[in-house]
Amino acid sequence: MELLRFDRLEDLDFPRLMEIYREGNLRTIPYFFPDETDPERGLRGVEEKFYEYYQTDFYAAPGRRSYVLADGDRWVSALRLFPVPGQKGAWHAEALATAADCRRRGYAKRLFELLFRALGAEGPFVVTDSVNRDNAASLALHEAAGFQLTQDPACCPLNGKTNPKAFGFSYRFEGWEAPSRLPAESLSTRYLVRRLEETDVPALLALCASNPQFYRHCPPPATAQSLRENMAALPPRKTLNDKYYLGFFDGTQLVAVLDLIAGFPGPEIAFWGFFMLDAAIQGQGRGTALVSELCAALREQGFRAVRLGWVKTNPQAQHFWKKNGFRETGVSYETGGYTVVVAQRELT
Ligand SMILES: CC(C)(COP(=O)(O)OP(=O)(O)OC[C@H]1O[C@@H](n2cnc3c(N)ncnc32)[C@H](O)[C@@H]1OP(=O)(O)O)[C@@H](O)C(=O)NCCC(=O)NCCS
Repeated sequence: MELLRFDRLEDLDFPRLMEIYREGNLRTIPYFFPDETDPERGLRGVEEKFYEYYQTDFYAAPGRRSYVLADGDRWVSALRLFPVPGQKGAWHAEALATAADCRRRGYAKRLFELLFRALGAEGPFVVTDSVNRDNAASLALHEAAGFQLTQDPACCPLNGKTNPKAFGFSYRFEGWEAPSRLPAESLSTRYLVRRLEETDVPALLALCASNPQFYRHCPPPATAQSLRENMAALPPRKTLNDKYYLGFFDGTQLVAVLDLIAGFPGPEIAFWGFFMLDAAIQGQGRGTALVSELCAALREQGFRAVRLGWVKTNPQAQHFWKKNGFRETGVSYETGGYTVVVAQRELT
């Protein structure tokens, strides 16, 4: 999946965008054309009004952006962002939608994850959005994506208008430079540890490619795009401030990766979403040594436990984690066609 950004109307494939908004546009025909009886003609009329709005209003002011989530050739979700005048890093979102036949597949959440990662690369930010009180899907989505309900009723930061029918939500990222809960460099004495960035994707891809056995149990094999998604992915209600997608370097060589979420599913738990060693350094006890120094450092930082999951059919993973003190919690879940067994190690 890929997040596309459009700063100019000329770059936007408008008919494709309209496929996302088709359902909403059909619903607004009676508002714009109360006497229209032909839905296709009405739809074309609404789409013309949409285009006119983008041309004469939305894209007529500087700094405004549309974002689209593409899944292969299909455009599935979109929203537009307005910079809030006079407030660096402040954005107001509008017109979030997923194509009607693509809902409940995680697209809108993925759109937000990739958007936050992209905005985070520009520095600290806050995104606000108004959600109608009766829009159960959108209320649940905003909560799942890590937004906080901050206004009742919503007040638009662009014009100061209050909307009694809506709640105001906000998502705040303090920036990668902000003092973090977890000083990455303190996690290992053996390796240099830092958060991975876009420029690390080729090295990360090579590391993943050295582990074909892992992807036999957990398909499909990683691609640059899936790694970017992974670098942005967050469990429900967590934000980028809790995300540590860490690389472990031996000199300049990336030798291990750990995706850590601080405070999930409880405040004193560190969740490991992905841990992988380059095949070249496997089979020498270095994975076990790294896990034990990581656990000691996390305990030092006040965490009580580490939680993770392994794919049930992967005996190598199960053996490794059990040997390293992880015990099954009794919970397992299905995802993407395989079963994940949840396990935890108490940091005593
Ligand atoms: C709101 C909307 C954008 C959600 O898009 P989506 O791609 O279907 O959302 P996702 O699949 O990413 O949902 C992620 C999470 O949000 C919550 N959620 C989304 N739709 C939900 C629904 N109908 N009921 C309950 N929870 C819902 C769930 O927690 C979901 O995770 P889960 O499926 O694992 O339970 C979509 O329903 C839509 O386009 N609605 C019409 C336009 C609109 O209302 N826009 C919002 C304006 S503020």
